[in-house]
Amino acid sequence: MKPLICLGIESTAHTFGAGIVASKGKVLANVKDTYTTEKGGIHPNEAKEHHLKAADDVILQAIDDAKIKSDEIDLISFSQGPGLAPCLVVGMEKAKELSRKLKKPLVGVNHCIAHLSIGELLTKCKDPVLLYVSGANTQVIAYEAGKYRIFGETLDNGCGNFLDGFARHLGFGFPGGPKIYELALKGKNFIELPYVVKGMDVSFGGILTNLKQKIDSGKYKKEDLSYSCQETVFAMLVEVAERAMAHCNKHELLLGGGVCCNNRLKEMAGIMCKERNAECFIPENEFLVDHGAMIAWQGILERNKATKKISSIDIKPYERTDDIKVDWR
Ligand code: ATP
Ligand code: FE2
Repeated sequence: MKPLICLGIESTAHTFGAGIVASKGKVLANVKDTYTTEKGGIHPNEAKEHHLKAADDVILQAIDDAKIKSDEIDLISFSQGPGLAPCLVVGMEKAKELSRKLKKPLVGVNHCIAHLSIGELLTKCKDPVLLYVSGANTQVIAYEAGKYRIFGETLDNGCGNFLDGFARHLGFGFPGGPKIYELALKGKNFIELPYVVKGMDVSFGGILTNLKQKIDSGKYKKEDLSYSCQETVFAMLVEVAERAMAHCNKHELLLGGGVCCNNRLKEMAGIMCKERNAECFIPENEFLVDHGAMIAWQGILERNKATKKISSIDIKPYERTDDIKVDWR
C-alpha cells in the first residue's frame, strides 16, 4: 500500500478536533478545542457556534503540529455519526471545504467504531471486547461475523450524561464526570443505590432520580453520594463487560470513551480482568475522549470508500455501530 496521510475531523458533540495520522499508524497531530459550561449541560446550538469559531484554528494548528504542508494530505475523513446534528454539520462542511480545496477524496466514518480502532492501534490489542463509556454512549462491543456487534448497552442515558446530570443537580457545569471523581475521593460512607443490570444491558435513569431525591433531602454528604454513585455504576459496567467477555470467549478488554478517564473505573476494570486471567488495555486519556486522530485513523482503514464526489455525502446522526460492514480487519 502506498503510504498516505489522513486529516480527520471530529465534531459529534462538545469537541471540535482535527487529527493527522499516517497510514502506518503514526499519530502526527491531535488538536482539539472543547466546549464547556460553568453551569448546565450542552446546548447543541451553543456547541455548534463553538465549533464554527474553533474549526479553522484547530485545523491549521494540526497541520502545523504535524510539520507537513497541506498538499501532503492525501485523504480527508470526518465523523458522520452518531451525534448532535448541528455539531456534525460543522465538521462535515469543514471536511468538504478541505476536500474541495486540496482536491483530495473524502470519507465519512462512524464515531463509535473510531474509538475502538484507535484503541486497538495504540494498545496493540488484537480482538478485544470494547467497554465504550462516553457522554451519549454506553455500549459493550465486540467483533463477530463481519460486524462490530453491540452485546450490551444502556437502555436510557449514556453513563457520562448520567454523571453530568448528577453533577448538574449538585450545581456543577459540564463536564461533570471529573467533578464527581474529585468528590468521590473524599467519600467515606457507602450509601446503597439502585443497581440496574438486565442481562448485558444497564440503565441509569432510576439511579439518577434516586440520587436527586437524596441530594434534595439534605441528609447525605455530596462526597458520600459521589463515592457511592461511582462504586455502583462502575460495578454495573464492569459486570456487563465481564459477561460479554465470557459470552464471546474473548480475553482482552479495551476501554474507550471519556468516562474511562476515571481512575476508579480503570482500576475496577483491571481487577476484573486479572481475576479472569484476561488483559485490560487502556489508551492514554487524550485518546479516550473525543478527538480527531481516531477519525483520521478510521479514515485510513476505510480509505477504499473515499470519494471526490462529495455532494451526496451527508451526516448520519443516528447511525449504529452494527450498521457498518467491517471490511478492513
Ligand atoms: P460520544 O459522542 O462518544 O458519546 P462524548 O461526546 O460524550 O462521546 P467523550 O469525550 O467521550 O465525549 O466523553 C465525555 C464524557 O466523559 C462526559 O460526560 C464527562 O463527564 C465524562 N468524563 C470525562 N472525564 C471523566 C472522569 N474522570 N470521570 C468520569 N467521567 C468523565
Ligand atoms: Fe466519543
